[in-house]
Amino acid sequence: MEKTIITENAYVLIRRHGGDILSHPSFKALSRNKQHHNSNTYSHLIHVTVIAIKIARAWRVKVDERSFVRAALLHDYYLYDWHDKPNRKKQHARRHAVYAADNAERDFGITPYERKLILNHMWPVNPHKLPYGKAGWIIVLADKIATFQELFSKVSSEDNYTNKPSI
Ligand SMILES: [Fe+2]
Ligand SMILES: [Fe+2]
Repeated sequence: MEKTIITENAYVLIRRHGGDILSHPSFKALSRNKQHHNSNTYSHLIHVTVIAIKIARAWRVKVDERSFVRAALLHDYYLYDWHDKPNRKKQHARRHAVYAADNAERDFGITPYERKLILNHMWPVNPHKLPYGKAGWIIVLADKIATFQELFSKVSSEDNYTNKPSI
C-alpha cells in the first residue's frame, strides 16, 4: 500500500479508481434511494468522496489514493432506502456499515483495508469503532460535512455533483 499526497482533480481520481463502481447497475440504482433532505444515496456517495479528496489534498495528508476513493464511494453501499420502514433492515444507523462492507466485498472485491474504512465510518454512533487511521477520520469528517449540507442546503447534492471537472 503506497501512500501519497493527492494533487489531482477529484473527478479524475473518482473515474480512475472508481470507474467500475460508477458503472455498476447496483451502484447506479442508488439514485432511486433517498438519503437526506436534498440527496439520494448515489449523490451522497459522490458528494462525500469529493469532499474527502478535497480535505486530504488541502491538508496534504498521505493516503492510499485508490483505497481511499473506493472506501469513500462505497461507505453507504447498503442497497436499500432507509426511509422505507417496512423494507429497511433493523438498526440501520448502527449496522448499515456492515451491510455496506459485505455488499462491497461481494460486488467489487474490496481489500481488507477498504473494508475496515467502511466498517468504521459510523463513529460516534458506533463509539467503539473509531475511524481507521487518518484516511478513516477524513472519510468520517467528509460524511458529516456532506450530510449537513444535504440536510440544510437548498441546492440538491445531485445538482452540485454533475459535471464539475474543476474541483
Ligand atoms: Fe453511513
Ligand atoms: Fe454517508
